[in-house]
Amino acid sequence: MLHENLSVNEKNHLCIAGRDTVELAQKYSTPLMVIDEERIRRNARIYKEAMKEYFGDGSYPLFASKALSCKYVYRIAKQEDIGIDIVSSGELYTALCEGFDLSKAYFHGNNKTDFDINYGIENGIGHFVVDNMNELDVIDRIAGEKGIVQGIIIRLTPGIDPHTHAAISTGKVDSKFGIAIETGQATEAVKYTLSKKNVRLDGFHCHIGSQIFDIKPFCDAARLMIKYIVKLKKEIGFETEILNLGGGFGVRYIQSQPELDYKEFIRLISQFINEEVRASGIKKPIILMEPGRSMVADSCLTLYTVGGTKEIHGFKNYVSVDGGMPDNPRYALYQSDYTVCLASRMNDPCDFECTVAGRCCESGDLLQENVKMPKPKRGEILSVLVTGAYNYSMASNYNRIPRPAVLAINKNGEDFTVIKRESFEDLVKNDL
Ligand code: LLP
Repeated sequence: MLHENLSVNEKNHLCIAGRDTVELAQKYSTPLMVIDEERIRRNARIYKEAMKEYFGDGSYPLFASKALSCKYVYRIAKQEDIGIDIVSSGELYTALCEGFDLSKAYFHGNNKTDFDINYGIENGIGHFVVDNMNELDVIDRIAGEKGIVQGIIIRLTPGIDPHTHAAISTGKVDSKFGIAIETGQATEAVKYTLSKKNVRLDGFHCHIGSQIFDIKPFCDAARLMIKYIVKLKKEIGFETEILNLGGGFGVRYIQSQPELDYKEFIRLISQFINEEVRASGIKKPIILMEPGRSMVADSCLTLYTVGGTKEIHGFKNYVSVDGGMPDNPRYALYQSDYTVCLASRMNDPCDFECTVAGRCCESGDLLQENVKMPKPKRGEILSVLVTGAYNYSMASNYNRIPRPAVLAINKNGEDFTVIKRESFEDLVKNDL
């Protein structure tokens, strides 16, 4: 199967972490997201151990929690002793609910409000990843009012095109994120930051994009960042402590995509960085990375119940399910690839070609096109695989559809709810 935590049992049913998905769907109803907890822990350990081994002490992963933000994942991040990247006060609040140590948290975002900055400082955020000088002024002011010196790193745009979907490409010069090296504005920003009393510039950040399978854009970005660090040392005598290379490693959603060996990727990037650092004579920075997708995507699948099957003779076939863009907007937004299978009859011949549609009043509410599976009957269970990243975190209540329940399976094979299914009362709780 696509990932080693997926299998098919003697009943011809799809299993995740050894548990029969059809039985789970019967027990909890659908739509249902099922997380294999050991897979998240395994991914976290791969990053943590590889970064320590290859980049040295002090280097560690920050889980980019925008991929899946809920108490349960911050609990796992805390237990696995990794850091987090957060982008809003809401994510920060959720992490705080689990008592997450915010000294290992980096607060991102291209428009942090005064509230966000105040909230972060009040709760002891380790670092802000500064996107522009307007917010730097506010951080400096609020830190001054509170009598502290706030750690920051500056987000730079190295000018790299990672050749991924335009909506998830972020490192180019004209990006809305960060400050461009190429235009000279980065150096102005560094000088300006160093003139401030209440902030401490600890390093630099870049993030080139997401769902990238090639190592070259990462090495190119690292090279440009190091070149820039060397230039700063020469020009203004500033040496950095931290180099944060962002996230972006690709995940296998469909059979034709490779399953990346993240440990090997980190080894190759470290080799490259170590050589560049040695040749340039700068102090070796602590390296941070921010994997989001590759930490959680392959830990999860979504289960739906099939409703109607429509055959439009001479045109196409539709299979409609009881979820769709409210729980997974990624196909509607980015035409994202997914593997879809009929969980109830895994090894039956896949002789029915169809478009899998969601239940919203919207033609674009599709989960995938050109899917081949056994012709499903109403009531059978259909699964979309690899839905752990940017699915629940991007879910909505469009058409007043409640968000699904999220279930986890632990290493003993026990199932437990980690996010309750929304009720109709939840849907109206803020309506006055
Ligand atoms: N660091 C920063 C600053 C980021 O902006 C992101 C993702 C990450 C790390 C994590 O990247 P990852 O390892 O997950 O590729 N909603 C889109 C993805 C948006 C990514 C936004 N930033 C999707 O569903 O594909």
